[in-house]
Amino acid sequence: MNKSDNINRRRFLQSSLIGSAALLGGSSLFLSARCDGREQKPASSDFAADIEIELTAASDEISILPGQKTQVWRYRARVLKGSGDVVQNLEDTFTGPVFRLQRGQKVRVYFKNEIPDKSIVHWHGLHVPEEADGHPRFVIKKGRTYIYEFEVKNRAATYWFHPHPHGRTGPQVYNGLAGLFLVTDEEERALDLPSGDYDVPIVIQDRTFDRDNQLVYLNNRMQRMTGFLGEQILVNGKPDAELSVATRAYRFRVLNGSNSRIYKLAWSDGTPLVAIGTDGGLLQAPVQKDYIILGPAERVDLWVDFSSRPLGSELTLKSLPFSGANTGGMMGGGMMGMGRNRGRDRNIPGNGDELTLLRVRVDRREQETRQLPQQLSQIDGFDLSDAVNRDNPRTFRFAMQGMKPTINGRTFQMTKVAEDEIVKLNTTEVWQLVNGGGGMGMMGGMMQMPHPVHVHGLQFQIIERTPSAGWDSIKDGFIDSGWKDTVLLMPNMRAKILLRFEDYTGLFLYHCHNLEHEDLGMMRNYSVKA
Ligand code: C2O
Ligand code: CU
Ligand code: CU
Repeated sequence: MNKSDNINRRRFLQSSLIGSAALLGGSSLFLSARCDGREQKPASSDFAADIEIELTAASDEISILPGQKTQVWRYRARVLKGSGDVVQNLEDTFTGPVFRLQRGQKVRVYFKNEIPDKSIVHWHGLHVPEEADGHPRFVIKKGRTYIYEFEVKNRAATYWFHPHPHGRTGPQVYNGLAGLFLVTDEEERALDLPSGDYDVPIVIQDRTFDRDNQLVYLNNRMQRMTGFLGEQILVNGKPDAELSVATRAYRFRVLNGSNSRIYKLAWSDGTPLVAIGTDGGLLQAPVQKDYIILGPAERVDLWVDFSSRPLGSELTLKSLPFSGANTGGMMGGGMMGMGRNRGRDRNIPGNGDELTLLRVRVDRREQETRQLPQQLSQIDGFDLSDAVNRDNPRTFRFAMQGMKPTINGRTFQMTKVAEDEIVKLNTTEVWQLVNGGGGMGMMGGMMQMPHPVHVHGLQFQIIERTPSAGWDSIKDGFIDSGWKDTVLLMPNMRAKILLRFEDYTGLFLYHCHNLEHEDLGMMRNYSVKA
């Protein structure tokens, strides 16, 4: 197949998924105009970048619903150096762009902030130096440029990027700022997984629109405390999303890009899901699940085989009902009502209500015989016995104290680290992450809710997870065998994770990825010291 066929087919796929007139950007048509004299720090001469990308965050308006256009913020990217395939801007949606990089490439990104708010970009899941991690202390004002320089050291996986200004991450992601950072490597390429048109990003988010089709964020303080839940599901920025597919195997890269909504992914006809990867890349072998729980910021790569489906058949990716996400220790049902963000005149589905996410229609025949590999990768995990604190896990309690979401009783301080937040370079540790924590008093008990806990700068392993509220409705949905950067802690749950601090010293973040909790301060620094 020649290149232009390929492009046409990609266009077709995009239009079928995200609406009409999709075009691919990023064909290296652009020449560099990078020295605008407004850079925060100059590009360093001793960093020989293989790839240079200009990434701009700006206001735009997009047709999302019939009628009036919607004001959004969106990222757009162009390649200044290297192959144009590195960047794919998705047209007519705020989602994206999609970056496609190879492990080992050296990347320089010029982030230009053109939104009327301070911002900074964080590469979620990537192992990069502290200056490239998008810490809120590096925010830049509108009109400024921040230069990132880093080598892609991570293994092949679905990483992503989004803003990270303190107190403003929730609204900025909500307004449309989030893209994908896909990494490939030799191990993955050897498997010859479905690629190109057959490697489909599925970014799931929830949004609420007003009568004029404009995005509505938080309505009240209670929503801020529980986390934003939207009225409608968008996939890649589109409501009522549909995807037309051929009779063959696909790779679906599912990202939960929602501020606080949790999904219990399943196929409508009961076909099991086949997971091939998690946050940090390929599993050792495929895992078959009746459903998969995906908390905010988590990713799962699915192998989806339509080859035996008849032409014209339809299948729906759903979120099945589950419980535990809105439990109120003391007030029970009363708290449920509030936790579900039910507005006065709206019927906003709660966390745990059934939802339709994506309709898939098999509408063309294709001859393709790709088989699911039984062995996907070699995971050389850490060993608990290597942890310097194996008998004495570092414990972090994520809990509401009064109206404040806290970690070990603290909230975010821009550059502060506590005694128990300092770790040593080149060591492996075990951390115990606890949702709730004892003796929190009445409000603490009442305000129990899920906390998707994320650690910056590394991929960890989950070695233990205890039952939680709603356990029976979620217990088979976790994939803890692969690399992770986010672990969903349901109410009362404890998880133990193994992490290793390598290569980079400095300040990194760990926080709840319920973006409203994060913005309220359920975020702290940890410091890696030599
Ligand atoms: Cu995706 Cu600090 O987060
Ligand atoms: Cu992150
Ligand atoms: Cu939280």
